[in-house]
Amino acid sequence: MADVQNLVNNSVDMEKSVFEPPQDLRNEAHVKSLEQYQQLYKKSVDHPEEFWSDIAKQFYWKNFTTDKFLEYNFDVRNGPIFVRWMKGATTNICYNAIDRHIENGLSDKIAFFWEGNNPEDHDRITYGKLLEEVCKCANVLKSLGVKKGDRVAIYMPMILELSICLLACARIGAIHSIVFAGFSSESLSDRVIDAQCKAIITSDGVWRGTKLLNLKEIVDNAVKLCDDRGHTVEKCIIVRHLSPENEIIVHDDVNGDQDQEPPAKRPYNKFKINWHSGRDVWWHEVMAKSSPVCEPEWMDAEDPLFMLYTSGSTGKPKGVLHTVGGYMLYSTTTFKYVFDYHPSDVFWCTADVGWITGHTYVCYGPLCNGATGIIFEGVPLYPDAGRFWEIVDKYKVTKFYTAPTAIRTLMKFGDEHVTKHSRKSLKILGTVGEPINPEAWLWYHRVVGNEKCAVVDTFWQTETGGHVLTPLPGAIPTKPGSACVPFFGIVPEILSENGETIPKNSNKEGYLVFKQPWPGIMRTVYGNHERFETTYFKKFPGYYCTGDGARQDKDGYIWITGRIDDMVNVSGHLLSTAEVESALIEHEAVTEAASVSHPHEIKGDCIYCFVTLKEGFQFTDELLSELKNIVRKKIGPFAQPDFIQNAPALPKTRSGKIMRRILRKVAVGDAELGDISTLADESVVDILFKLRPKEA
Ligand code: PRX
Repeated sequence: MADVQNLVNNSVDMEKSVFEPPQDLRNEAHVKSLEQYQQLYKKSVDHPEEFWSDIAKQFYWKNFTTDKFLEYNFDVRNGPIFVRWMKGATTNICYNAIDRHIENGLSDKIAFFWEGNNPEDHDRITYGKLLEEVCKCANVLKSLGVKKGDRVAIYMPMILELSICLLACARIGAIHSIVFAGFSSESLSDRVIDAQCKAIITSDGVWRGTKLLNLKEIVDNAVKLCDDRGHTVEKCIIVRHLSPENEIIVHDDVNGDQDQEPPAKRPYNKFKINWHSGRDVWWHEVMAKSSPVCEPEWMDAEDPLFMLYTSGSTGKPKGVLHTVGGYMLYSTTTFKYVFDYHPSDVFWCTADVGWITGHTYVCYGPLCNGATGIIFEGVPLYPDAGRFWEIVDKYKVTKFYTAPTAIRTLMKFGDEHVTKHSRKSLKILGTVGEPINPEAWLWYHRVVGNEKCAVVDTFWQTETGGHVLTPLPGAIPTKPGSACVPFFGIVPEILSENGETIPKNSNKEGYLVFKQPWPGIMRTVYGNHERFETTYFKKFPGYYCTGDGARQDKDGYIWITGRIDDMVNVSGHLLSTAEVESALIEHEAVTEAASVSHPHEIKGDCIYCFVTLKEGFQFTDELLSELKNIVRKKIGPFAQPDFIQNAPALPKTRSGKIMRRILRKVAVGDAELGDISTLADESVVDILFKLRPKEA
């Protein structure tokens, strides 16, 4: 094994640093060797129908007769793109996530531990109780008029009710559209309108660290924006998480107060919300009257399960649609193999259920395996930088999954916050969401894992449903910074700009694409199949294009180099530069805006904007903070640009296209511009360099 400290200090070539799977882990692993992985992998790509039908048989199907196990077209030249797995077979993912385990005697097993923002707040739910609550919620939804195929928006904190709502939707065949409860009212309303959601489920509010968020107020404003644009949200269900009963203002038109008191034990005082009679219903009131029995809706494997919005390069978010059968197989199988699941595990994925990582690895993957998981409401630094490890010890977490941003943040606070906790239970440490720099990987391995745990860097996307490139912890030696090898069923290739296959192991960077479908691949962009085809299949006919760059080293390991399109990955959250630009130009002072990504020590990348002002406006500190605020308001606080600079003009080609390549150079202060002969006016570049903020 490589000398870890040496590697950190000397930054030696990471391709040569190989970490073998820990022996204990290997002994008990589902896949114990590279050879075993290779055999299974070969079967999965040569005979996908056989491979996945063996797995499908482990689930409950109401009817397992399929028209054809797999049908697809990945080539736009041959007609419309489509992917169908097991069409004709019927099942229900909620039944497979809960009822099936209860039939196997797991009624008393803990499905989730809940850990509140405050360390004193905690709860737990068994599989038996989860079934009751899910059925009650399913019956509530039905009683409010929600039917199979209807869309339900969920805008909630990380509380047990969130997973109950998602499973209740799945049980009755309603399509859930979870919107991360950090998006603004405007972003929420855009998503609710696009999906034509009938109902929204939310909670009164939530504390995140020392910040109080009035979620109900954000939802009220979003519903108003929907009304203004002609879409009526019929019902809002509100979970009372914070507000005592006597603090509710029952009016349709009064603004609620929001007292920013430091968090105390629940129930918190002085939290006020508005109430819209007729539309709003309290969760606890309707649940109390609801029956705990609900027959699942038997769904075709290809019926929609959920949609989840992700940023698109045009600026308008895309509703990525996943279907029941394929997603069920893929989320369950990736969870089982990548986290090498065993029934005694306590699994903790720190991601919010508002993102795909939370869908697949907080809820569906663990539940379909009958696992015990953790739902954590808080943040890594509250009350201090040791919170993660305190929770690991409290629940004896065996498998832990987080984002590189969190690792980099915690690294800065020093090793003591980690080492004062035992972490003895840990076996596997996972990362996801963005490229992990080798230093952070090595710190995770050395300090958090005491050099005893396997580190799995998992590459995937909202669109892929589950992991697509990843090591298997008992079988694949790892290299810090590489997502290693394809998961079962995934056939990666790296293509040049003009579509030629870059020879394997050549280490040349190109576009990462996949050659054939796997069960968890998205099926369409909700309401816009053409956009689905254009975004993922037009550039390289015959392939699904990830939009990421990658290279493959001489051992066949894949190294992701980051987005190739106009997307910025801020702390693992994808944003399109166009989305940020269209927020900025809504300010009355701005005539034109361009944004690019800029490296950031903690966030991986951050957003750097250039704005051209209208005549008569000055680039003042006040304007700067107004511009940052407009992005927070239009998209959400996590999208706030780190840098905004004055740009009297933008570098453009003669045909008027903004040359972002040059803006990226300006943003990092790199004067090596390469060929700028296509620029209409070269003097613009000097001006931009002069106006660069000093702190950038
Ligand atoms: O750029 C890649 C990056 O995150 C993108 C997908 O973002 P999203 O759909 O929000 O899903 C994030 C969680 C699955 C990818 O196109 N990404 C994700 N995981 C990794 C990564 N980049 C490098 N290494 C990873 N492990």
